[in-house]
Amino acid sequence: MTDRPRLLPLLGSTRHGSRDAMTCLYRCGNACDHPVPNTSDNAYFGDVVNAEVSRRGVVRAGAVGALVLGFGGAAAGALAGAAPAAAAGAATAGTAAPARAGRPGGGVGNGALTFTPIPSNKLDTLVVPNGYDHAVVIKWGDEVVPGAPEFDLHRQTAAAQAKQFGYNNDFVGVLPLDKHGRRALLVVNHEYTNEDLMFPGFPGLDNLSVEQIRVAMAAHGMSVVELERVDETGQWRPVGKGRRPYNRRVTALGTTFDLTGPAAGSAWLRTAADPKGRTVVGTLNNCAGGVTPWGTVLSGEENFNQYFVGGDGAPAELKPKLERYGIPTTTRYPSGSRKWDRADERFDLARHPNEAHRFGWVVEIDPFDPESRPRKHTALGRFKHEGANVIIAKSGHAVAYMGDDERFDYLYKFVSDKKFMPGDSAVARRHNLTLLESGTLYVAKLEGNSAGEIDGSGTLPSDGAFNGRGRWIRLVSGNRSYVDGMTAADVLTFTRLAGDKVGATKMDRPEDVEPSRLTGKVYVALTNNTNRGVGSNPKADEANPRNANKHGQILELVEDRGDNSAETFAWSLPIVCGDPSDPSTYFAGYDKTRVSPISCPDNVAFDATGNLWISTDGNALGSNDGLFATALEGPERGHLKQFLTVPLGAETCGPFITEDNRSIFVAVQHPGEITGASVEKPASTWPDGDFAKPGVVVTWRLDGRPVGS
Ligand code: FEO
Ligand code: CA
Ligand code: CA
Repeated sequence: MTDRPRLLPLLGSTRHGSRDAMTCLYRCGNACDHPVPNTSDNAYFGDVVNAEVSRRGVVRAGAVGALVLGFGGAAAGALAGAAPAAAAGAATAGTAAPARAGRPGGGVGNGALTFTPIPSNKLDTLVVPNGYDHAVVIKWGDEVVPGAPEFDLHRQTAAAQAKQFGYNNDFVGVLPLDKHGRRALLVVNHEYTNEDLMFPGFPGLDNLSVEQIRVAMAAHGMSVVELERVDETGQWRPVGKGRRPYNRRVTALGTTFDLTGPAAGSAWLRTAADPKGRTVVGTLNNCAGGVTPWGTVLSGEENFNQYFVGGDGAPAELKPKLERYGIPTTTRYPSGSRKWDRADERFDLARHPNEAHRFGWVVEIDPFDPESRPRKHTALGRFKHEGANVIIAKSGHAVAYMGDDERFDYLYKFVSDKKFMPGDSAVARRHNLTLLESGTLYVAKLEGNSAGEIDGSGTLPSDGAFNGRGRWIRLVSGNRSYVDGMTAADVLTFTRLAGDKVGATKMDRPEDVEPSRLTGKVYVALTNNTNRGVGSNPKADEANPRNANKHGQILELVEDRGDNSAETFAWSLPIVCGDPSDPSTYFAGYDKTRVSPISCPDNVAFDATGNLWISTDGNALGSNDGLFATALEGPERGHLKQFLTVPLGAETCGPFITEDNRSIFVAVQHPGEITGASVEKPASTWPDGDFAKPGVVVTWRLDGRPVGS
């Protein structure tokens, strides 16, 4: 471009919190314009009893009264002490995930968060604390596959994009590639596309050429990129030359996936192109994810619903199932539709009604085997998967924690049948690659111990905590269903409906769910839910304690006996987000005058000493989104401090802190995503000063010491 672009005034068009209308359109297909997909009425005690009866295979009505459901009573005791360390050694035994040193962040010495917090701001740049530097590692259009064509904004093709770094980076994982800390593999999700910011002269979604649609498909998916450390610093950059055998793109356009687990091959997954229901082309809306203890990456297929059209022409018996997953069935083209059926008819549900069932899974990719075919694991259920994070339980079983990011949807976990095999032998690796193919899937039911005091205002109950007990309700084990009227394949393909039937707890958008490998405690980012308590929607409960919840909360889950495969747990809310001067906020009892304002927690991560890092999406306090950190144990628990902010219109994704605690990676997703912005009139010119490009950033301490400290 010859002319320097004109900056768009920052008017925007906010809808939900501070989230711009363009985010709503492009990221989730205006999901909030559609009715809340969960219309189930499942919060009654009797339903839970029935589920418990079903779970135990007891059908005698007289047995109901004798059941003990495990709620209440023991919560205070369970919360008082820290859970025993949970298999940290086993979880990190493989070379791909070396053992994390240190101890839980206690606020003093090793693990102390001593950086000076940065202020809220609306700057079109990435802001880090004094004493830190940052650099863009890779951005949209950069070479991934060696020999990729140079990025040309005005002559972009799908073939070129399929070799270049994709759009809207979200999950970030960095896996060591050598024993000296000099080489690593960067694995990144590309969740969705902003066509209005990608194509000069954007003609509207309805008028994109078929080739432009294919460019967008190729800009979805994942990237694997070999990195090298810059000198002896915490900075990393892509290896710029040589064979780079691991570098790889996974796209919505051309990558073939194998389906695994009990639902693979079922009637729900068969299509004209895949009559056996065993392979799928493409992955969609890959949001967050996790690095497994055996050195692979999991990636959640989230708002897959928005890519499908023709729900009105789907078979009548399928329509309620499609609706539960947010696919409208009364119109051919829902608002915000990308109309991908113009490029590939399989996205037309009137012609291929089962195609939608082939998305909404957890994907596993082995970045160390570039020839391997990625897999979609049906055993982990199908919903709007934010991501999945694995810990090895004391028993040796792999436990994956997962959230379904929708208002009033559920929290899940999966426990593998097989046990993790430590070590990095070929035998161990082959074995561990099968861990997510069979196991038990659970959904969470939470009950507060101050239920009568929850009025939706966020006022702390008299026991001083939003807390209580919970249980994991079994949905399916292998081919055995525990849900009345549903087969195992039904439960796994329509997991939301199974959760409805067993009385799961409706949460405020469960996003990232991640266990601390140091303590085994599990942290859930509940982003927000402005529909809570509004109209006929469910009212506040102790785990979701504010009606019209704009700012979200963090939930801490402590499995009984410190056993991540347990079926009961204690829970509490260590952080209820917002402006600290807002009386409805809570920061684990820490002095609120000393904490940073935070809104809309989305992704969580841990550093090597066990501090919790939280990134935000949709800050409703008037600031750019950012990254925050707090100690979780000791006197500094709740001392939340803002570490960075991303540029205008962007969301902070990732984050990922390297095992040596010297580098923090974040993904800057959708910079400049503000109504009215375009390539020609960008609302952000990050990172190059011309037009907005999503990119991955690394931050490090100039003095080389551990980040955060
Ligand atoms: Fe893609 Fe739930 O954020
Ligand atoms: Ca309480
Ligand atoms: Ca997210």
